Amino acid sequence: MTYEEFYKDAYGKMKAAEMQVLETIAQYSGRDEQQRGQRSIEYCRSRIKSPESMEAKLKKRGLPVTLKAALTEVHDAVGVRVICPFFDDIYRTAEWIKGREDFEILEIKDYIAYPKDSGYRSYHIIFRILEGPGKGVTVELQIRTIALDFWASLEHQLKYKKEVDHDELICRALKQCADEIASVDLSMQTIRDLISGSVAV
Ligand code: GTP
Ligand code: MG
Repeated sequence: MTYEEFYKDAYGKMKAAEMQVLETIAQYSGRDEQQRGQRSIEYCRSRIKSPESMEAKLKKRGLPVTLKAALTEVHDAVGVRVICPFFDDIYRTAEWIKGREDFEILEIKDYIAYPKDSGYRSYHIIFRILEGPGKGVTVELQIRTIALDFWASLEHQLKYKKEVDHDELICRALKQCADEIASVDLSMQTIRDLISGSVAV
C-alpha cells in the first residue's frame, strides 16, 4: 500500500508539517550558530511512518486500522529526529522548542534523565502545530547526541521489536554499550566545557 493510499488527503498536510518543522529547525540552527559561534544541531532526519509500520502499531495496541486512529491515537505518524553534537545541546534545543508559540506541547518523554530499560536515551517532545502549512498535525521530535544516535540506530537494526535468541544476554550487552556511550558523551561535554573556559581547570 502506498503512503497516499493509506493517509489519503491527510498525506499532503503531513508532508507540509514535516517540511515546516525541518525549516523551523534550520532557521533556529543558523541563528544559534551565528550567535554562539558553535552549532547546537548537527543534522536532522525525518520520516512519515510507513503504512506497514502504522498498521502493525495500531494492531499491537488493539486499535482499528483506520486513518482516524492513525492520526489521533498514534503520535509519531510524522517524526523528526534532531542530532546534536554535545549533551547540553539536547536541553538547549528542547527549551527552544518548548518556548515556541506555534507548537503546542502535548507530551515530554525525557529518556535522557530516565533512560529506558534497554539503555535507550533520547529526549522526546510530542507537539501539535498551531500555525502554518502543517497546522493541526501532531509531530514526534526526538533529540539526542551523535553518540546516542549511533547506539539507537545500531540497536534498532539489531533488535528493536524483534525476538532475538539469547535475549537476556544480548539485552545486557546492548545496555552496557549504551551506558558506556553515555559516559563518553559526558566526557566529551566536559572537554568542551574545559576548552570553552566554562569550567576551571
Ligand atoms: P513505539 O511503539 O516504539 O513508538 O513506542 P511508544 O509509542 O510506546 O513510545 P516510546 O516513547 O517507547 O518510543 C517512541 C520511539 O522512541 C520509538 O518509536 C523509537 O523510535 C524510539 N525508541 C524507544 N525505545 C527504543 C529502544 O529501546 N531502542 C531504540 N533504538 N529506539 C527506541
Ligand atoms: Mg515510534
